[in-house]
Amino acid sequence: MTSAKKILCIGAGYVGGPTMAMIASKCPRYRVTVVDIDPERIAAWNSEELPIYEPGLDQLVAAARGRNLFFSTDIEAGIRENDIIFVSVNTPTKAFGLGAGMAADLQYWEKTARQILAFSESSKIVIEKSTLPVKTALAMERILNSRANGVFFDVLSNPEFLAEGTAVRDLEQPDRILIGSRETENGLKARETLAEIYANWVPREKIITSNIWSSELSKLVANAFLAQRISSINAVSALCEKAEADVTEVARAVGMDSRIGAKFLNASIGFGGSCFKKDILNLVYLCRNYGLEEVADYWESVVKINDYQQERFIRNMLGAMFNTLAGKRICLWGFAFKANTSDTRESPAIFVTRRLLEERAEVVVSDPKALKNARMDLAGAAGRISYVEDPERAAEGCHAIALLTEWDLYRHLDLRKIFKTMEKPAFIFDGRNLLDHRRCFDIGFNVYPLGKPPLTHF
Ligand code: UDX
Repeated sequence: MTSAKKILCIGAGYVGGPTMAMIASKCPRYRVTVVDIDPERIAAWNSEELPIYEPGLDQLVAAARGRNLFFSTDIEAGIRENDIIFVSVNTPTKAFGLGAGMAADLQYWEKTARQILAFSESSKIVIEKSTLPVKTALAMERILNSRANGVFFDVLSNPEFLAEGTAVRDLEQPDRILIGSRETENGLKARETLAEIYANWVPREKIITSNIWSSELSKLVANAFLAQRISSINAVSALCEKAEADVTEVARAVGMDSRIGAKFLNASIGFGGSCFKKDILNLVYLCRNYGLEEVADYWESVVKINDYQQERFIRNMLGAMFNTLAGKRICLWGFAFKANTSDTRESPAIFVTRRLLEERAEVVVSDPKALKNARMDLAGAAGRISYVEDPERAAEGCHAIALLTEWDLYRHLDLRKIFKTMEKPAFIFDGRNLLDHRRCFDIGFNVYPLGKPPLTHF
């Protein structure tokens, strides 16, 4: 059987893998191949233990793999044999040279473009799936169309808005699919080819199109807006603690205004994840580049408040525990940057652990999914760290529990039993406002929620 469309994705990460699994599952007539330079990653995609944990992903991959979904390291053959190429390689924050710590590092992206150029024997549609600075498509077009050999490339921007932990649902029922293209005849044709793929399961009115620069920028702006909401409520949480207000009550009252909306208003120890900080810094860098200092400062403050919130959490712990953490055993409940993922990239837990070690505390890290990553993140950190998956055992003999990730399982623990095994006075610092604070207090804990008055026995 010949496939109706032959699709390649370069980069088998958090976005590429799940997105291609969804396309393969919804479009059995298409042949979808995912390639990556990392043989271990590809082997994992071909095994029973996928390289990422995502609810529903195992079933999705199992149903399509070997039928019309393939994972391979043969990038060259992949490029030669397919005519629609998604590029989903990583674009981390640049660690060197001009723009270090702010701008996106585009070396993998550019390398990929050169590979596409080198191995292509026929014209192709190349789709930016990675989040990229505005105008990257222009650079891509220039590289790809730099040879006069009759092979032509159309570059599209099709940012992915999925969130981790809900990737499968987000892919299946997206709020919108955005496709940016050049508004030329070829560009519009390429746009329609991509729209056809999504139209296999996404209602047409949710597939929106724009010019290519708007599309690139929309992804950065969407993440900046989401992160800004979190920094706004986190800034308010600091004020609530001083003013004896309750941030949950404030968020509820504010969020019921339909113009504002109730989502993304949970105060926390700060946002993490691979996208928010990176994309905002990218936006800031872009603004500075265009001489828009005030605009850059405005967005940069979102990141500053996020750093402040994490440091504030440590200072609150220190203050509550009599200004010394040295020699005390602190248990972390959760290390992932949010629940339902094993991902720890930019997780506030990394900062919190390092700061606790600086204060000479002993840290017991627990998490149902993220301990492997936690070990890698903390490799080389000086101090006493242990890793215990079971939260009840992790808390044994500890002076305090710091709840950092909103895993549902923490709601259902036997806190009375846990309290008995801990050093006294026992503290809980709830960095997600997840626990029933009154109940914790009644059991005997000194409880420090975020943005609410503490409940203490002193
Ligand atoms: C985000 C965007 O949501 C997604 O559209 C984009 O494609 C990638 O970046 P993700 O990083 O997976 O997705 O997670 P998200 O659910 O957005 O959470 C980001 C961080 O914000 C997490 O650390 C989370 O715990 C935190 N958060 C979220 C809060 O602190 N409070 C909230 O109310 C919501």
